[in-house]
Amino acid sequence: MRTLNVELAERSYPIHIGAGLLSNPALILPHLKTRRIAVITNDVVGPLYLDAFVAGLEAQGLRVTRIVLPDGEAHKDWQTLNLIFDGLLAERCDRSTTLIALGGGVIGDMVGFAAATYQRGVPFIQVPTTLLSQVDSSVGGKTAINHPLGKNMIGAFYQPKLVLADTTALNTLPDRELKAGLAEVIKYGLIRDLPFLEWIEANVERLLARDPDALAEAVERSCRNKAEVVTADETEQGERATLNLGHTFGHAIETGLGYGEWLHGEAVAAGAVMAADLSRRLGWLTDADVERVVAIHRRAGLPVKGARLGAERYLELMAHDKKVTDGTLRLVLLKAIGHAVITAEARADDIRASIDACC
Ligand code: NAD
Ligand code: GLY
Repeated sequence: MRTLNVELAERSYPIHIGAGLLSNPALILPHLKTRRIAVITNDVVGPLYLDAFVAGLEAQGLRVTRIVLPDGEAHKDWQTLNLIFDGLLAERCDRSTTLIALGGGVIGDMVGFAAATYQRGVPFIQVPTTLLSQVDSSVGGKTAINHPLGKNMIGAFYQPKLVLADTTALNTLPDRELKAGLAEVIKYGLIRDLPFLEWIEANVERLLARDPDALAEAVERSCRNKAEVVTADETEQGERATLNLGHTFGHAIETGLGYGEWLHGEAVAAGAVMAADLSRRLGWLTDADVERVVAIHRRAGLPVKGARLGAERYLELMAHDKKVTDGTLRLVLLKAIGHAVITAEARADDIRASIDACC
């Protein structure tokens, strides 16, 4: 097992990464307030992992409430969030109950938001089961649900007490979801870790083949990058926004097509290519740099062209981005491969041109 720490003073917590951790409840016990917990999952992950996971916890003397939500990004909404509250209240879960999110980023984001608000805040633990959630969404305390007008628009910063990433769970992940997770892995290389990007370029086939050592290495190096950024800028006053490379374009695709049509990681991949193209228009990247960004996403089996929504629709959707300040759109672009910045320098004409060139 590999362990990293997210250093946030009294809100610090460990990330455990390794094979078979779901069947090791002893890793969870030290992080519980009381013996009362609620495990929240969905109707895809539940049938695969819930019974064995809960049995292990009950064998430790814990009292467990189970809540199973409908699966999918389309259910990351108020109605489904309310099902969590219904379940917690029906079972009389109190303020010392720890919520455990068992699933991908959708479950993790929703359970985190539920934990932030249920009885004004209860502890929670992330047990991410997708590559995307193991390398990104389970770490850092961003929790949210979607609004029809924008992705992740309703939420809170609320840190978990523990992240438990069992890499064995990735064996049941559909190929398309594995590839979507790779988009966020590649992102760390592009924004701040050139040696990691070079490692991904050398190992992408091993990752696609689910080589356990390669996956564990990718999860650890990704979480290390994420933990460093979150420690430096927990509430996204600056550097943390660079984690959103490709996301402003990507969120426009997700919202524009309807949630769940493209996977989040797929939209981020196409968005990263658009961001690279725009960085070239600002004179920061060379043609060869942009081709490198395209090539690694293509090798990972990810889209390198965006959805054809039309540039004006993209701009309309991007105007809802959380990085808009005083009406000015700020974008995460690349000064160089391995060095992202947040900038308002891109002109609307150039943004339009990049969208047209990359869709
Ligand atoms: P997801 O949660 O929808 O999971 C993808 C699919 O895989 C779902 O059908 C899920 O049920 C299934 N699944 C999960 N684990 C499985 C397993 N082990 N075996 C088989 N199937 C499994 O999607 P995701 O890609 O994990 O997360 C995407 C979400 O994460 C988006 O809503 C995005 O906005 C959010 N996100 C949040 C952050 C953050 O910092 N909070 C960062 C990145 C993304
Ligand atoms: N995934 C972006 C962030 O956590 O800030």
